[in-house]
This record gives sequence, C-alpha cells and structure tokens, in this order.
Amino acid sequence: MSLHRLASFTYQVPNVAETSAYYEDFGLTDNGDGSFSTVDGGRQLYLEQGPYRRISGIELGVDDPDDLDRVAAQLRALHVVVHSDAQTLVAYEPIMKMKVQLTVEQRVAQPEIAPVAVNGTGRVERVNERAAGVQRTERVRPRRLGHVALISGESESSLKFFTDGLGLKVSDYAENKANAFMRCSADHHNVAIFGGPASFPHHSSWQVEDIDEIGRGAEDLLTAKPERQGWGFGRHYAGSNFFWYLRDPAGTFSEYYADMDQITDDDLWTPEVCEGKSGLCNWGPALPADFMAPADVAEIIAAQSE
Ligand SMILES: [Fe+2]
Repeated sequence: MSLHRLASFTYQVPNVAETSAYYEDFGLTDNGDGSFSTVDGGRQLYLEQGPYRRISGIELGVDDPDDLDRVAAQLRALHVVVHSDAQTLVAYEPIMKMKVQLTVEQRVAQPEIAPVAVNGTGRVERVNERAAGVQRTERVRPRRLGHVALISGESESSLKFFTDGLGLKVSDYAENKANAFMRCSADHHNVAIFGGPASFPHHSSWQVEDIDEIGRGAEDLLTAKPERQGWGFGRHYAGSNFFWYLRDPAGTFSEYYADMDQITDDDLWTPEVCEGKSGLCNWGPALPADFMAPADVAEIIAAQSE
C-alpha cells in the first residue's frame, strides 16, 4: 500500500508557554503534556523548548511494514542512514536537520459532515432561516493537520529526500522546480518545501469545515491580538484551498484552510510551475513583504551557527 497521512510534527520554540496559549486559542486541544490534538486527527502537534523556532521532526503514517522496507531501500540509495523495526522507520533529513519517522498505523476516516444549505443562482436550498455559518457560536476546532511548509537552505537536496527518498509526489511547483508542494495522501500537499537563505519553518496548516470556520477562527484570534495577522483571507491556486494565515508568538504562521484539492489518480493530475502572486494565490490581499522573508531570519541563522 503506501504512505497515507502527515500524522504530526514536533515544533521547538523558545517561548513555550506563550506559544501553547496561542495554539489553544487557535482551537487545538492542549493535552497538558506538550501535545495538542485536533478533532479527527488526534495528537498532531508536539511543542518543545528550543533555542530558536524550528520543526525538529515530522511523523508520517504508512499502511504496512512493506512500505517501511520500500522507503528504507529508497533512502539508502541516497546514502541516508535508516533505523527501522517492524512498525517504524526513522531517518534524518540532513539540510533541515529534521527527524522523519514513518509509523505503521490505521488510516484516519473522517466523519462526513452534511453540507450546509446554500442559496445559489436559480437554486434555493435555504428559505425562511439564516445561514448556518451566521448561527454558529461554538469555538472553531480544526479537524486535522493538513500540511507543513518548510524553508530549506538547500531545497533541491531536501526535495530529493522527500520525493526520491520518502516517496512523496509533487503536485505543483512554485516559481521553479526548487520549490514544491508534495503529497503523501490525497491532499494536494502535505509537505511543501521552498528554497531560502536558511532552514526554518514557514507554516503549519489545519483543516476546518468551510470558509465560515476560517473567517470565524481568524476573527477570534485577531480580535484578541491584531498583530497576529499574517495573510488572508484568500484562495490559493496551488491546492485551490481557501486560506487565512495567522502568526504564532514564535514567528511561524498557522493556516486555517478549507476545500483543498484531492488527488486520487496520479495520471489525472499534471503538476504545474505556478509563478508569481497569481500562481500562489488566485485571489486575496497583497502578499505581505515579510511573508516569505520573516524579520527573524538573521537571528535564526546566527542561532544555527552557534
Ligand atoms: Fe499552506
């Protein structure tokens, strides 16, 4: 069978208490032991103390032990050291210095949420009542982790590790083939890697049910602290998802998303090189200057060289 999900990631920050409070506000459930859960995906964020912000590990789910054997052979062909047993495989991505663990685990079946009634042109589904989205009062709770986006100091090498080594598939490129959106499930992307001056995390992305949940979630976070605004509301071209990015207190973005492209037949999907703002974004506000080049990069580079 195959890889089937991005199960979790481990995120190191210097300010754990403040960052924990942010992800609780974001709608994740704080388990009190450094782990945070989504409604459908279980424990998907592990927060740890570290000297600067970095994603130190990711965990991918695979169907069976044969997948581990296949990935081990692919990684060894790239001269990567692999540690494995019957249920897990561990390897280190050398550029971003990130632990990658593959674990044999059951696929997560998300419950099907009934579509809300929407009035369209010549199509009336809802009469004599307000829209579902304006009647909701409960807190926004992400359903599951969708993807992590990482900046790599040597992105071609990092991409080779993820594609040739781990077996992720490229869904689209950004600007050129040194920046790619890759999938290990039907989601358009579960890991995105972009080239940059150093290696650091760009964002994590969390599925919510629909655009009302994106808007309600972002509204709550921004009402409390307007400085959390990252980029949004908009709709990406790569992945087609609606997005809104908020900045956590360590400097990494977290994204609410809905309506991501699903790719179930590789032969029916053709990766494109998506260029410019229109490649990244079908519509939305101007891209903030610090979105791809955050203010703390020099600080991270200095800390990495210590
Ligand atoms: Fe994203």
